Amino acid sequence: MTRSTILLGVNIDHTATLRQARFRDAGRTCGAFVEPDPVLVALLAEQAGADGITVHLREDRRHIQERDVLRLRENIQTRLNLEMACNEAIVDFAIKLRPDCVCLVPENRSEVTTEGGLDLIAGRENVARVVARMNDAGIPASLFIAPDPTQIAVAAELHAPWIELHTGAFANAYYDPALREKELLRLRRAAEQASLLDIAVNAGHGINYTNIREVLTLPHLHELNIGHSILSRAVLYGIGEAVRTMKARIRGE
Ligand code: PXP
Repeated sequence: MTRSTILLGVNIDHTATLRQARFRDAGRTCGAFVEPDPVLVALLAEQAGADGITVHLREDRRHIQERDVLRLRENIQTRLNLEMACNEAIVDFAIKLRPDCVCLVPENRSEVTTEGGLDLIAGRENVARVVARMNDAGIPASLFIAPDPTQIAVAAELHAPWIELHTGAFANAYYDPALREKELLRLRRAAEQASLLDIAVNAGHGINYTNIREVLTLPHLHELNIGHSILSRAVLYGIGEAVRTMKARIRGE
């Protein structure tokens, strides 16, 4: 991937966080005064150049609701990436929904590695079952994991077509130059390893308009999934400007 062809997935969960802060008990997810509407935000993000829309249907439904996901599936023109836990009910929902891809993420402590990604060692059996169900359904599954060689080796054994490298430790270390370089090196080695194993590489968590410069030096990146920084900028300048500026950063402008 050359830098200019790296795709931007916009995670719009926090538009639903904002809506739920006021309308959790409204009994509806959109219409009239129930705002903001995540679907409208998604359409505006697409218009501004987003290459895909990501939402996380959490088991506790703290932001995105099932109805949001169904409306997104019907309305967006790019690709729908559904983030989800390895939970039977959500797996059934995803197979019916047929998103363009899913990203398996941890939701409870026992599924999480020290760096916050899926623990493919402790959770191997469960993740393997979900990846196999998704492969059978023709829905590519990505595994959200720390840039850890053991995790990546297991992702290959599970025949995951994609991984999403967790960039949170790098983002947290950003203002400590030595630690930042160390985290960047771990991400670089992880991307190299995954590519050698024929696994496509996405990255996400904590990426913003500043630290993206270093993230873009990583090899083999297919897509970046970015939520919080884009939506924060959107609060001030609108979602269109926020997405266009991030796309320009990806192009190196
Ligand atoms: N990728 C995954 C798998 C995530 O869980 C999240 C956070 O919801 C993101 C990317 C986006 O992270 P951020 O909101 O920090 O950009």
